[in-house]
Amino acid sequence: MNPVIFNRAAITGREIEYVTRAIAEGPIHGDGPFTRACHEWLERLTGSPKALLTTSCTHALEMAALLLDLQPGDEVIVPPFTFVSTVNAIALRGARPVFVDIRPDTLNLDETLVETAITPRTRAIVLVHYAGVACEMDAIMAIAARHGLAVIEDNAHGLFGRYKGRQLGTFGSLATLSFHDTKNISCGEGGALMINDARYVERAEVIREKGTNRTRFYRGQVDKYTWCDLGSSYLPSDILAAYLLAQLESHAAIQERRHAIWSRYSEALAPWAAQSGARLPIVPDGCEHPGHIFYLLMPSLEARTALLAHLRTRLILAVFHYQPLHLSEMGRKFGGRAGQCPVTEDVSDRLVRLPIFFQLSDDEQARVIDAVTEC
Ligand SMILES: Cc1ncc(COP(=O)(O)O)c(C=O)c1O
Repeated sequence: MNPVIFNRAAITGREIEYVTRAIAEGPIHGDGPFTRACHEWLERLTGSPKALLTTSCTHALEMAALLLDLQPGDEVIVPPFTFVSTVNAIALRGARPVFVDIRPDTLNLDETLVETAITPRTRAIVLVHYAGVACEMDAIMAIAARHGLAVIEDNAHGLFGRYKGRQLGTFGSLATLSFHDTKNISCGEGGALMINDARYVERAEVIREKGTNRTRFYRGQVDKYTWCDLGSSYLPSDILAAYLLAQLESHAAIQERRHAIWSRYSEALAPWAAQSGARLPIVPDGCEHPGHIFYLLMPSLEARTALLAHLRTRLILAVFHYQPLHLSEMGRKFGGRAGQCPVTEDVSDRLVRLPIFFQLSDDEQARVIDAVTEC
């Protein structure tokens, strides 16, 4: 019996053709023709004034922190149930992440706890749409407006997700995407910064090009380029953009398959969940998710350990995440302590992610469902 792996990046057919064209036609450095095509594609999808491909979502988050001019002494509200990059970007600027717990239903930043965490030093709210299910954006945007805070959406999970009909990643002044190979659409390693507040566009181009105005130079707007701001090399090669464009153009097939897998898990596992005290993902009214993650919340850590071990005996690889960031070595340096974010601490012990990817076959998924329900 073959193992059922946890994830394999989708391959939809035209990736090699586009990569070959990128190499043949050139140039293959950043911001070539395929990068421009990806920018246009993402701008068309979201209506954001500007998309900029980056080498990762991590780097897009770092660009966002630079654009906000975060400084030592500044505070930024973040959920502790996220990937480390969400907070590293803040800490790299010397600012302090302030951990605010998540909601027990969506596992997103709990909007009812945000306001009490705001101080005169608070500059921004960085949120994550966990599994591509939207945060409560009406409430969060209203809080941000009342206190004059920037909102950054870490939308690593949520490309194609919607809140009340509007694409995720279009609410905050800045949003970030991931095209890591664990994501629905990927180029191995990659990301994007989506700029919804046009005031950031010119400076973002500079930060992404090593702190220079080389982008303006390429457009013929200046006759030489020079160092004008802080920056780094955040733009991917056009070879990666070629691969990515092929994936973006095939998004309908990828999304359809992922939704089918997600819905089948949801229907097939509902009776088992009701009996065993496990809970399946909750998608509130008004939220459309992109089929990125299918998770189970087991009743206890022991039940999770037993399920993972049982799945392994059936050659099925399921995984868990995230470790609470406020309790990590770095999180504690920022004042994190046990009991500070009880929902995160509880959920991170109980969550299991099941295999969900484009090429997962119906038979493989049936094996996963059978193995879960017999546990
Ligand atoms: C919520 C979140 N933010 C950021 C990242 C970082 O993405 P990347 O690997 O593209 O840097 C991830 C990666 O999985 C993530 O889950």
